[in-house]
Amino acid sequence: MTGVHEGCIRMKVKVRIEGKTVEIDRGRSLLEAIRSAGIRVTSPCGGKGTCGKCLIRLSKKANDEDLTVAERKLLDREDFEQGYRLACQTFPEHDVDVEIPEESREMTLELLLKHATINPIVDAALTTETRKLSASERNVAGSVIEKGVVWYDDERVAAVTPEGGRKIAVALDIGSTTMVAYGFDILGQRIVSAEAMTNPQRQYGEDIMTRIDFAMKSPDQKKLLEGALRKGISELIRKLAAKCDVSTSDVIRLTFVGNTAMHHFFLGLDVTRLGKVPFQPEKKTAIEVEGSDINLEGLERAKVNAPPLIAGYVGADLVAVLLATRLTESKAPTAAIDIGTNAEIALAVDGRVLSCSAAAGPAFEGGNISFGMRAAEGAIYKVWSESGVLKYETIGKGEPVGFCGSGLIDFVAEGLRLGMIDSAGGFDFDCCGDKLLGKHGNARYLLYSNGRKEVSASQADIRQLQLGKAAIHTGLEIMMEKKGVKSLDKLLLAGAFGANMSIRNGRFIGMLPEIPLNQIIPVGNAAGTGAIQLVSDKSARKRVLDIVRKTDHVELSSEKDFQKRFIAALDFPHQDLSKYPESSKSVKTKVQRRK
Ligand code: FES
Repeated sequence: MTGVHEGCIRMKVKVRIEGKTVEIDRGRSLLEAIRSAGIRVTSPCGGKGTCGKCLIRLSKKANDEDLTVAERKLLDREDFEQGYRLACQTFPEHDVDVEIPEESREMTLELLLKHATINPIVDAALTTETRKLSASERNVAGSVIEKGVVWYDDERVAAVTPEGGRKIAVALDIGSTTMVAYGFDILGQRIVSAEAMTNPQRQYGEDIMTRIDFAMKSPDQKKLLEGALRKGISELIRKLAAKCDVSTSDVIRLTFVGNTAMHHFFLGLDVTRLGKVPFQPEKKTAIEVEGSDINLEGLERAKVNAPPLIAGYVGADLVAVLLATRLTESKAPTAAIDIGTNAEIALAVDGRVLSCSAAAGPAFEGGNISFGMRAAEGAIYKVWSESGVLKYETIGKGEPVGFCGSGLIDFVAEGLRLGMIDSAGGFDFDCCGDKLLGKHGNARYLLYSNGRKEVSASQADIRQLQLGKAAIHTGLEIMMEKKGVKSLDKLLLAGAFGANMSIRNGRFIGMLPEIPLNQIIPVGNAAGTGAIQLVSDKSARKRVLDIVRKTDHVELSSEKDFQKRFIAALDFPHQDLSKYPESSKSVKTKVQRRK
């Protein structure tokens, strides 16, 4: 019912969303308003009020009586108090301001790659000058022309080309599971392209420790791992360069960040000390080499460099996250988690940072999961229930191929709410019905099948998720205790995964602390953003040294009660329900543990 009739004065309300104002007829939903503003919000149930995915936030909390039956069922009371509503269930009577949380945005492949941002460059590191060339410069340019373009990296001449030539720089984030490269156009001073690929080292082990063990067995095996990584990176950059309409020989600088193991493998450093307590890196300071020094095919003449590291398992990627998020400048307790195979966690209080690495395992990136895959076309990335039946959405909206991490979290969260999964992570056979195939440890829940192909989540997959979420919870908990922090002012989630997962469900399963939703903020691929700043901005290159000086490290495995805490955190949301008073109310089947 719109309340609009021919001949009547049309009653309109203004909806302000992200700097745009749209007018809608009174009686229309905010979902329609958001769509008409050209913003894509996920709405898998089509606005029926059954999926709970179209979460938005109003600048002013609504009245209790405005809540629809669907919202009473799908929204947590606390979230409602913070102004959250479901867009399809909100029919504004007056002008409103609307905020759209990242998790409500429709995921597209472009969005996945867009998660790194470029901040305004303060002091450009890569510059050009078109001028008369000296004899030696003409030589470098391979031309007899008088005038040409001189390409500078800091104060140094990095290349000389005839006019019209193009050079790029590359910022690279090497994850244990996924690698993302960004092409920085020097003339335009902006990122023009991005490309991602799976880390080819995965064939030698999903987790870092397995790869280090493999490398430590013999020099040949170590070379195998280094070669696989470099070959993958050369290939990734070749594709990126092609997208930028240049060749790899036009890359003058490659700044990379990554965890310490990836950093060491890429540079050919010894990884032996990373494989045993106290897990020390071979080299912690900033490094610069030529591409030819590390046999980087096609990039032999590029300068390859990385910022300093913090510890054996807290690498240049966290340094880049700290740079991009300006965490050291936070006054109130602020944490940042870069979720990957190793979740790197930083907690800033009064200008100093404590950091640690929690072995989350590859589940969040789709690794070690029966039908796991990274967030790519065909990945189930959202799961919700309608009348007790699980529904899903895939990236690209096509046939399901597998699960990515956010889909698995949603699946488990919905399973807990419906009672299909109990708080200890076990399937409830009665509640799952005929979708549950196999028995006990081999049970699997069928989400999709076309007779030949299926996508299911197994008991073992849920266990993997438990390990990951417990590691993150425990790491953050220990650091907060060490710093005497009772409650966080903000929690920043770095990484493409953090940007695309449902924060509500991440909090619900006990991976993230139970703090108000608006205090948990996805910041995209902050490691990539930091790498982009490092490649393009001299001020970032200086700031990073100060960041490392202000950051201390905690080795979680040396914490005496780590194991006890970790085991308590395996339950959904946690064995100690007082840590998750709201979430635990919605877990249907709670398994009692002996004290
Ligand atoms: S689109 Fe609003 S609840 Fe599904």
